[in-house]
Amino acid sequence: MFVSYAVIRMIVKQDSARIIGTGSYLPERVLTNADLEKLVETSDEWIYSRTGIKERRIARADEFTSDMGVHAAREALSAAGKSPEDIDLILVATITPDYMFPSTAALIQRELKAPQAAALDFQAACTGFLYGLLMAKGFIESGVYKNILLIASEKLSSFINYDDRNTCILFGDGACASVISDSGEGYAIREACLGADGEVAELLILPAGGCRNPASAQTVAANQHYISMEGKEVFKHAVRRMESAAKECLLKANMNEDQIDWLVPHQANERIIDAIAKRFGIDDSKVFKTVHKYGNTSASAVAIALDELIREKDIKTGENMLLVAFGAGFTWGATILTKL
Ligand code: UT7
Repeated sequence: MFVSYAVIRMIVKQDSARIIGTGSYLPERVLTNADLEKLVETSDEWIYSRTGIKERRIARADEFTSDMGVHAAREALSAAGKSPEDIDLILVATITPDYMFPSTAALIQRELKAPQAAALDFQAACTGFLYGLLMAKGFIESGVYKNILLIASEKLSSFINYDDRNTCILFGDGACASVISDSGEGYAIREACLGADGEVAELLILPAGGCRNPASAQTVAANQHYISMEGKEVFKHAVRRMESAAKECLLKANMNEDQIDWLVPHQANERIIDAIAKRFGIDDSKVFKTVHKYGNTSASAVAIALDELIREKDIKTGENMLLVAFGAGFTWGATILTKL
């Protein structure tokens, strides 16, 4: 029987993709609920009881999505024992790029001095990191690339209306990076399920600045360069979609809820996180949360939580993590990682 070289390569690489190093970066400035009480009609009690958020980080005026991505990338490369020269591809998940173009990935490639690396931005809002993990898995296991730097970085504070109490209490800035390779110790990317529903795209949107609604004096006057969200609707969809993605992922991996050692959810609202954990019967001690201290940092939120979990807990070989996320689009996803 004739088996082509490409097929042999695919067979050999199957299930080889793994995260071999992570890093994150949070800006120094802390914006507390007490600070927000001075900006809009709200209270620490309302924010904490409705969202679980106590504070969030805000980047400096001269600190951008690419800068935060570079900090996180350097930490991830060091954890992975790799240098920028080893990297074949830089993937950047962001809805808050430095520019419309060129890509933030290209700016990061320049700053890191990664001469071999191709560079690409993509966006799936808060699900960006999970979309990126599956893309990286595909590139690695097809034998196209050996080492990929996946970065999720967001400066959401540039797109928040700090007069709008519906949104300004929720979001923060931050970045995370992972090195994904075909060999080495780390966390196997076992299974991933992604989804999207563009029918409800306008429920969570940044209305102006694209070609449908280019920047003008009118768009600025109408606050259309800020995030706009129907919070209650988003909440309902988020719980439903993350639950079904996680179920599908467990099914594909031939696993059940009892085999999940850690739930690492998107960090948008503690009530959403608790609802997901309850539906899966996962004890609170196994649910990793950062939402109280960083708020929702979109694409980087689940990735920062993963990085902190890896650094803070003694994860044993064979332990499984279930990552779930939901964001604008709508997009959603679930991924299972296993410690090698
Ligand atoms: O990453 C994915 C994207 N985002 C999310 O996942 C967020 C999903 N949604 C949520 O987390 C929640 O819907 C929010 C936290 C945004 C809002 O919580 P809620 O329990 O759905 O509140 P609500 O929007 O129904 O508002 C309840 C009341 C309203 O007043 P009335 O109409 O009952 O008098 C709001 O005007 O609370 C009022 N309100 C506030 N009050 C104090 C809304 N925002 C605030 C605020 N402080 N910051």
